[in-house]
Order: sequence, then C-alpha cells, then structure tokens
Amino acid sequence: MNGRKKVTVVGAGNVGATCAFSLARADYADVVLVDIIPNFPQGKALDMNQAGSILGFEPNVVGANGYEETAGSDVVVITAGKPRSPGMSRDDLVTTNEAIVGSVTKEIVKRSPRAVLVVVSNPLDAMCHVAKAVSRFPKERVVGMAGILDTARFAAFIAWETGMSVRDVQALVLGGHGDQMVPIVSATTVGGVPLAQLTTKRAIARMVERTRKGGGEIVNLLGTSAWYAPGEAAAQMVESICLDQKRVLPCTALLEGEYGIKGLYMGVPVKLGAAGVEEIVTLKLDAEERRMLRESAAAVREVVGVLKKK
Ligand code: NAI
Ligand code: 2OP
Repeated sequence: MNGRKKVTVVGAGNVGATCAFSLARADYADVVLVDIIPNFPQGKALDMNQAGSILGFEPNVVGANGYEETAGSDVVVITAGKPRSPGMSRDDLVTTNEAIVGSVTKEIVKRSPRAVLVVVSNPLDAMCHVAKAVSRFPKERVVGMAGILDTARFAAFIAWETGMSVRDVQALVLGGHGDQMVPIVSATTVGGVPLAQLTTKRAIARMVERTRKGGGEIVNLLGTSAWYAPGEAAAQMVESICLDQKRVLPCTALLEGEYGIKGLYMGVPVKLGAAGVEEIVTLKLDAEERRMLRESAAAVREVVGVLKKK
C-alpha cells in the first residue's frame, strides 16, 4: 500500500484517454483505464507509460477490460458512451448512454464504494442523474464535468476578442450542458475589469452564442465531439478532489433549492475537495441571468424525463 491516490477512467476513447494521460503526467495517482474493446485500454496504457521516461513521470497506468483492477479507487471518471456525430444533439444520446453509464456505475460501486464519481458522458446533466440513482452515493460524491469546458470556451473567445491573455480572463458558465447554458457576463472579468467595459454588447452577445453552440461547432468540424479541453477539464476536477485543493469550479451538482432549483443536476460554482462537492457556492445573478437559468433547468428536466431510471 503506498500513499498515492488511485483514479479510474472508464472509456479509453478520445476524452478518457486524454484525461488519463493528463493524470499520468501529473503523477500524483495510479491510473486505471477501462474500456470494453479488447486490447484497446491496454494498448493506450502501454503507450502512455512509455511516455513517462520522456516526460518524467512514473509509468503507473494500467489498462483493463474488466473492473478488478479498479478496486479501491478514490475517484472514478466516467467517459464511456457514444459521442455526438454531426446533426445529433447531446440529448439524442440519452437512451444509449443511459444503459452504458448505468452498467459502468454498477460495476464501479461494487469495488470502490467510497469513490467520488466524475461523470463526463452525455447528455451530461441526465447522466449525472443516472450515476446518482444507480450508485446511491450521497450527492457530494456524484458530480459532472461541463462547466469548466464551457467556461474555457467562453474564455478563449474573450481572449481573442479583447487581445488580452486568457490567463487573466475570469469567466463563468452555469446551467445545463446544452444550447441553453448560461454564460454569466456579470461575473466575467479580464484582469479584474468587467467584460462589459472592455467590449461592445454586440461582441458579448456573439461570444455568448458561440459558447452555447461550442460543442456543436467542433462536432461539425471533426465529425465527432471535442476531447482535448474536455479531457483536461475532467483532470482538473480529479486533481482538486485528490489533492483536496478546494478549488471553486463550475461543475454539475445536484441542486436542492440552491438557485431556486430543486432535484436537478445543473452547472453551478462548486467547492471541490477530498469529500467531492463540499459546497455549492451561491452567486447573485441579475434578472436576465435568473430567467436564462430557469430556461436551462427546464431543458435539463425534459431530458431527465426521458430516463428510464431517475
Ligand atoms: P469515444 O467514442 O472516443 O470513447 C468512448 C469510449 O467508451 C469508447 O472507447 C467505447 O469503447 C467506450 N465504451 C462504450 N461502452 C462502454 C462500456 N459499457 N464500458 C466501458 N467502455 C465503454 O467518445 P469520446 O469522444 O471520448 O466521448 C465520450 C463521452 O463523453 C460521450 O458521451 C461524449 O458525448 C461525452 N463528452 C462530454 C463532454 C462534456 O462536456 N461533458 C465533452 C466531450 C464529450
Ligand atoms: C462538447 O461540449 C459534445 O459535450 C460535448 O464538446
């Protein structure tokens, strides 16, 4: 038994492999990569391990087609499922991915009953409901990744629009991970200066719209969905949990009255630490942002309504 954390990533495809490699490079945890395709996670793990000597990390990635190797994981990232193809909305994926996420969650909780689950599979908000229902874990230990990605997209557009460093952009995108997500312009600054003082209303509206359609823009270019930013976003959440960093990050958490929303997974600012979701941070929104958040919640509820098991 060593003091290192153990992280499992289920789904060794584009997002899962990117996340696993980011974790391997950070070198604070042993990583198990699981996929149903024979030899696939083993091959990816071998390749990642061989990069250790070049990049200076210990070769501690294990690939597997089953779950024995995952036992005792501290954090489990679920990326298993189908990605979007052109013309397909995130919500079209619901039935296929409900079955996959449900079966993965069942296997995981048998062997890692104390893990924090970080859900990535789409449609994200609904898949969080699936993982929560199947695992029966407390809400603190089932959290979704979307807001960090959506916020990173908004931040990139802001950096390009203003010609200022993305490092100094402090942005925030809340709500469901769909076209009705809510970029919170009132809380967005560059170097502490409100975005509204740096560019025009029209430019802001354009960036908000591009952010909302950010996933689809990449699907149309690539024929499948994004993975670099999504994989890194999931890895950032894992790091905050494993290292108990208590970062405040936009994540998908079960709301029970916060932001006026009850019984629904939605993107909100969350304090992420060793216990998982340690706090849902409440932010005062303006009237228009509150209206958009309600609309986004209605869109999420519609997809959740399609689930067999809620
Ligand atoms: P991918 O197709 O590259 O990888 C998915 C992997 O899951 C495949 O290797 C497949 O064999 C595996 N898989 C399928 N069923 C499985 C099972 N029962 N057990 C174990 N592994 C299984 O897809 P990609 O691009 O990695 O996307 C994965 C998921 O993440 C998709 O649902 C996608 O829509 C979602 N996504 C979510 C984002 C977010 O912001 N929450 C961002 C990007 C993608
Ligand atoms: C994305 O936003 C499709 O959810 C995926 O890139």
